[in-house]
Amino acid sequence: MDLGISNRSYLVTGGTRGIGLAAARLLLEDGARVTVAARTTSSIETAAAELGEHPRAGFVRADLRQPDGARMAVAAAVERFGSLDGVVNNASAFSIDLDHPDRAAWTDLFELKLLGYEAVVQAALEHLPEGGSVVNISGIASKRYWPRSPHVSAINAAVEALSTHYAAALAPRKIRVNTVVPGTTATDRYKRRVERLSEQDGLAPAEARKILDSTVPLGRPSEPDEVAAAIVFLLSDRSASTTGATIVVDGGTVVVPETPRASRG
Ligand SMILES: NC(=O)c1ccc[n+]([C@@H]2O[C@H](COP(=O)([O-])OP(=O)(O)OC[C@H]3O[C@@H](n4cnc5c(N)ncnc54)[C@H](OP(=O)(O)O)[C@@H]3O)[C@@H](O)[C@H]2O)c1
Repeated sequence: MDLGISNRSYLVTGGTRGIGLAAARLLLEDGARVTVAARTTSSIETAAAELGEHPRAGFVRADLRQPDGARMAVAAAVERFGSLDGVVNNASAFSIDLDHPDRAAWTDLFELKLLGYEAVVQAALEHLPEGGSVVNISGIASKRYWPRSPHVSAINAAVEALSTHYAAALAPRKIRVNTVVPGTTATDRYKRRVERLSEQDGLAPAEARKILDSTVPLGRPSEPDEVAAAIVFLLSDRSASTTGATIVVDGGTVVVPETPRASRG
């Protein structure tokens, strides 16, 4: 299926690993030009190598918790490729090892995943044309109990509210805003959850993995590519009449009742 995104310019925040990197790769495969924003030089260097020093990939180091981070990221995309057709607000960072998030954990996540997403939308609005698309990434902790993670639940729910607000506000400009909601996904975070469960319960890693996988109705974590496919669809004109929508990519996790094991690790 031709997505019609060839030569379009997209910004992917947090595009150096996991879901963001998979989205950047898929966009490049479909002929788009992609600017990846991340906080650290090391993750940018690793991602640039993983993308094969692609000629249509640009990188910018920007801390999106900082007030000028979003402006820098958007400016880098426009400077490199001369336009901006869409953005993916994906950057996130939190420790899954905290038993009780303290105020600093709340503030960090709030600054990055809510104020940071908002700032990226505001900076991008100066450039997005009619037909532009914004995809915000939340997470299924917005929709079901997730132990030790009230901050993650609250901020992901706020991200979804932010999306629906902008979907309505920007419809007159024909700019679409949608949300992709990942569940357990086979990224570094999943590896850490396996390690944590294994350490906590004294289990072999394979056993811990089996327990975590059994909490997903389809029996396995989603692959980053599977989440990326939903992101790229929402960026493309194939979803031209979709705005204010959420696509949940979670192997069915939110539609089954919570079990004591459901969110372990
Ligand atoms: N993985 C899952 O199972 C899962 C489940 C539900 C929801 N999600 C959501 O999906 C999205 C992607 O998750 P992921 O697991 O693929 O992410 P990840 O592997 O943790 O990667 C996070 C990305 O964000 C960047 N980043 C972190 N702090 C930043 C900052 N202050 N400024 C700019 N960039 C920053 C990181 O770059 P640096 O290393 O350079 O900082 C990295 O590129 C997130 O919004 C997450 O909440 C993921």
